[in-house]
Amino acid sequence: MCGIIGFAGREQAAPILLDGLERMEYRGYDSAGIAVRSATKGLQVKKTKGRLQVLRDLTQDGAELEGTLGIGHTRWATHGEPNDINAHPHVSENGRIALVHNGIIENYLEIKEQLQRHGVTFTSDTDSEVVAQLLEFHYNECHNMLEAVGRVLRRIQGSYAFGIICSDYPNALIAARKDSPLILGFGENGNFIASDVTAIIKHTRDVVYMDDGEIAVVTAENIDVFDSEMNPLEKKHSQVDWDVSAAEKGGYAHFMFKEIMEQPEAIRKTVSPRVREGRVVLDDLRLPAEYVRDISRIFIIACGSSYHVGMVSKYNWERLLRRPVEVCLASEFRYSDPLVDEKSLVVVISQSGETLDTMAAMREAKRLGARTLAIVNVVGSSIAREADDVLYTWAGPEIAVATTKAYSTQLVLMDLVGLYLADLLGTVEKSEYDAILWELQTLPEKLEQVLTHVEDIQYFASRYFNHNSIFFIGRNLDYAMGLEGSLKLKEISYIHSEAYASGELKHGTISLIEPGTLVVALGPYAALFDKSMSNVVEVKARGAEVLAVTTERFREKMEKTADSTVVVPDTHPILQPSLGVVPLQLFAYYVALQRGCDIDKPRNLAKSVTVE
Ligand code: F6R
Repeated sequence: MCGIIGFAGREQAAPILLDGLERMEYRGYDSAGIAVRSATKGLQVKKTKGRLQVLRDLTQDGAELEGTLGIGHTRWATHGEPNDINAHPHVSENGRIALVHNGIIENYLEIKEQLQRHGVTFTSDTDSEVVAQLLEFHYNECHNMLEAVGRVLRRIQGSYAFGIICSDYPNALIAARKDSPLILGFGENGNFIASDVTAIIKHTRDVVYMDDGEIAVVTAENIDVFDSEMNPLEKKHSQVDWDVSAAEKGGYAHFMFKEIMEQPEAIRKTVSPRVREGRVVLDDLRLPAEYVRDISRIFIIACGSSYHVGMVSKYNWERLLRRPVEVCLASEFRYSDPLVDEKSLVVVISQSGETLDTMAAMREAKRLGARTLAIVNVVGSSIAREADDVLYTWAGPEIAVATTKAYSTQLVLMDLVGLYLADLLGTVEKSEYDAILWELQTLPEKLEQVLTHVEDIQYFASRYFNHNSIFFIGRNLDYAMGLEGSLKLKEISYIHSEAYASGELKHGTISLIEPGTLVVALGPYAALFDKSMSNVVEVKARGAEVLAVTTERFREKMEKTADSTVVVPDTHPILQPSLGVVPLQLFAYYVALQRGCDIDKPRNLAKSVTVE
């Protein structure tokens, strides 16, 4: 949700800022801007509505802005429509201070009114401009930028990552964070701030993760970090170990397609290091065995696709652990006065590790005494650092807004954790444990087989892309998988779509089925295949066109009823969603392609949702 970047160095800042913003465009892409401080021209600001390319054109790829100190922003609008004026950076009234912001200032209206009473005039509708103006107000009082930032931070409420430059300080930018991600990068030709490692990985792997309440002063030579009382801090450096090419398209037309194709390897990386001598080994998990034995209830909390992983895991964990598992939408959980206590295990799932709803829910669970375990992809992210335990999915950077490989690796990691806990609790038979673990290790090869049938899915997409409304139906794990298939389709192709538990159709939704309605029938879940088939027959009888996904084992039966059938290999029933979801991802991808949609950057969305 918005990406910010800053550079203080010995090279021209503008091209570096534009390149970094391009790599972070997935965080928001309705407008963008940069501000650069030049020795001769002072502060120069260029900002515009639209994609980064528009800003590139406006600044001749940065050549128009001279200077080695600057900040940049790519926006996902919250306060004020996406237009040139609401785009960041925001500049204070006297033109001396420029600021970029990711987050939301909750008390901005109150501050705005106070400043207006002092005669300050505002140009934009944003909460962020209020901070720029408040900074000027305090700077005029104390004539010290760091002091002015401190005063502002004490005044504002909400979430923020700020990058700030001031024309009186030709060599330094100031950064601050609370509840929005911000990292510091130490490069050879200068130093950086950024919302995400992807923005600066080309220049440095040496990073520091800022914590809430911290302020940093960044110059070409140095970065000094302070706590909220302005005491200097010694921060731990981390080395980013992934390859630069991991965040590039590498010849693929879209990041989403590249990431779909990377799934076998991603799953391999998640699973292999965690299986030794036929056992699940979770070296990073410090969860005490006594705590596990005492768990009365498990909560899985997440948003969007990560929540769908939770839906699959509910079925699997209840089967393996024989403990009640509740799956909660993070945005609902935190305000629901949840019945969580010190005998609860709360598992939060988040690719980005920055989703504000998930983080707030996790904090609420901790406050109520539960132990928290985070399943996260982005190393060093806020959720990863705040959870009692963290297990990383190791999917590598995921750039497309619609998640694919992160979802798949979350799924297998949850399976591994489920097996591990079931073993501790003694609730799984050895033969079952061995069978699941064996199949988990063979998933990558089976996935590779699924991916050899890409053209079939492309063909089905070309047949069905004109439908206005598509239903996904299935029972149990197939239903949970359908939720993800349906979300993938709607978010990137903008087709209305719903996922239903097949048995629920007759309680209302079947009235929407009319001749020609496309129903994607999911039937890999063996235990309920026959029941699911009756529901397929019911929708067929009402004229639906049925595209089915099933396994080799049920191919023949399914082909007799469905209009088109996609077949995936058989595996252990609890792992079947890992194979079944891939044709659904591909189907969404090709449908969106046929409809001419912007696949990697769907409208109104952003990858990292750091607002409520
Ligand atoms: C959909 C998608 C979103 C995210 C959701 C949670 O393709 O990516 O639904 O799953 O915004 O994000 P994380 O997992 O980063 O907490």
